[in-house]
Amino acid sequence: MLSIGVDIEDISRFENKNLRFLKRIFTENEISYCLNTNKPQQHLCARFCAKEAVIKALSSIGENKPRFLDIEVLKKENGAPYLNILIDEYKKYNILLSISHENNKAVAFVIIE
Ligand SMILES: CC(C)(COP(=O)(O)OP(=O)(O)OC[C@H]1O[C@@H](n2cnc3c(N)ncnc32)[C@H](O)[C@@H]1OP(=O)(O)O)[C@@H](O)C(=O)NCCC(=O)NCCS
Repeated sequence: MLSIGVDIEDISRFENKNLRFLKRIFTENEISYCLNTNKPQQHLCARFCAKEAVIKALSSIGENKPRFLDIEVLKKENGAPYLNILIDEYKKYNILLSISHENNKAVAFVIIE
């Protein structure tokens, strides 16, 4: 079975957010990566899109919706993002992710197989 999910968001949603807000959505690894970039809001927004896209793709095939903190975006050495799903329920799936961002918008696309 295959499933897809996509999400697009305004980067402005993630400007100047405090740590308390970020910790409700993003893991320590994600916060650490994003806050060490020149434009944290772009990377944060892209990861939020990735989480929403995963939720859409899982929901489309009748799965329960995971929580934001159950879904972690990590990076390969070459810069490519990948998903670390932190609860066992979804480990049976291979979940593929691609993300993109520019000044105003971020987008993420997910395929589940
Ligand atoms: C990999 C590449 C396509 C990314 O392009 P980009 O415009 O920087 O990407 P975007 O700004 O749209 O998106 C950035 C996201 O791409 C993802 N990304 C970065 N490197 C990646 C890679 N090697 N593979 C897949 N995804 C990658 C990351 O998730 C990144 O976001 P993050 O830092 O928040 O995790 C680009 O760096 C590249 O190598 N282009 C080829 C250039 C080339 O060979 N030109 C030929 C001569 S003109």
